[in-house]
Amino acid sequence: MTKETLLIGQTLAFEANPFQAGIDTARHDARGGVLIENGKITATGSADDLRGRHPQAEVTDYGNALILPGFIDAHAHYPQTAMIASWGKRLIDWLNGYTFPEEMKFADVAYADDIAKTYFDLTLANGTTTTTSFATIHPESVNAYFSEAQTRGLRAIAGKTCMDRNAPDGLTDTAQSAYDDSKTLLEKWHGQDRLIYAITPRFSPTSTPDQLHALGALWAEHPDCPMQTHLSEQHEEIAWVQDLFPDARDYLDTYEAAGLIGPGALFGHAIHLTDRERARLKETGSSLVHCPTSNTFIGSGLFDMDGLTREGQTIGLATDTGGGSSFSMLRTMAAAYEVAQLKGRALHPAELLWLATTGSAQALRLDTKIGTLAPGFEADLVIIDLASTPAIAQRSARADTLWEAIFPTIMMGDDRAIQDVRIRGKSINS
Ligand code: GUN
Ligand code: ZN
Repeated sequence: MTKETLLIGQTLAFEANPFQAGIDTARHDARGGVLIENGKITATGSADDLRGRHPQAEVTDYGNALILPGFIDAHAHYPQTAMIASWGKRLIDWLNGYTFPEEMKFADVAYADDIAKTYFDLTLANGTTTTTSFATIHPESVNAYFSEAQTRGLRAIAGKTCMDRNAPDGLTDTAQSAYDDSKTLLEKWHGQDRLIYAITPRFSPTSTPDQLHALGALWAEHPDCPMQTHLSEQHEEIAWVQDLFPDARDYLDTYEAAGLIGPGALFGHAIHLTDRERARLKETGSSLVHCPTSNTFIGSGLFDMDGLTREGQTIGLATDTGGGSSFSMLRTMAAAYEVAQLKGRALHPAELLWLATTGSAQALRLDTKIGTLAPGFEADLVIIDLASTPAIAQRSARADTLWEAIFPTIMMGDDRAIQDVRIRGKSINS
């Protein structure tokens, strides 16, 4: 028999979506245990009980720290790691002024490899165990990301970003080469270990209808792959899409016409949606991805979390680095809270934690594999110190409830709160 590992600490598990079923469906154990074997969770429950029934298990006792499923970032741009926090521009100028020049550098394989390493160092240090990233148009940038993720044993998602117009020379492909290169990369990486290939048109302004159709055809051939893109992030962008696609009913229609909608479709931002777009996203089983630090940083707008969850939309949470201003999903949850407050709704800590774990997993169609603390799930875990700084410690020490003890870390926590991270059960610090 292979070795069992027993982790002890506070545990929190969601039996249902708290937006629909309420926060009482969260199960807290002040002295809980997570039993792991062969990289998967085999049991959860009371620490004493699990210890009694599995005396041979190797035990790590995290004391009062909180054991959660690792955070799942449902939308990011790893090639933008080195240009995060670039000052002063809105989306289109930000892309042209900062993003495209940086992404150009990924023609150099050594640079891509270097940034991929830095990216996974940063995301893991922040407790994010699954990332979903756009690469650049260079196939080598996809190889760099997946090679690094594979070396670290991660479940990770990415795809070659496709653009055949409105981008500088050196950063464009064609409809045909986008199809061919994406297909080659998909066949090389999709399903290798825990890696998943995402078909990735950047957004409608940088793809001709021909390119969108070519990628729609590729997705129809590989419907189990996710398809990721951007939707309705800024008003100027939406007006540009209207000019470029005069016959489209709306922004979403530019994707729908090319077969780029449906289960597995991940639409980043999705802020300024029409009623038709909202209805179609729901009807087709597409996913929306909320990127709150990016939406405030680039000045895009306020995502309608309350309305969209009431409609029953599938929603993931994401950093959108480097449009987003942090690698931390704790900071991202805090921004989601602040944005929702500005819209008149206080998101509960249970809802925030759920979004960063199970919610993102559902958006990615991975909710039977990751994002939940329960038997059968992959043992990608984050262990959180709920008193990681003097400011947080003095506040959580006064907490009367579990949620009051957790919320200061959500609002004020960063990588210092990440006491440990486990990938398939193994500590990244061992
Ligand atoms: N829209 C198209 N490309 C991008 C990008 O790289 N970041 C953000 N935030 N929005 C985009
Ligand atoms: Zn993005």
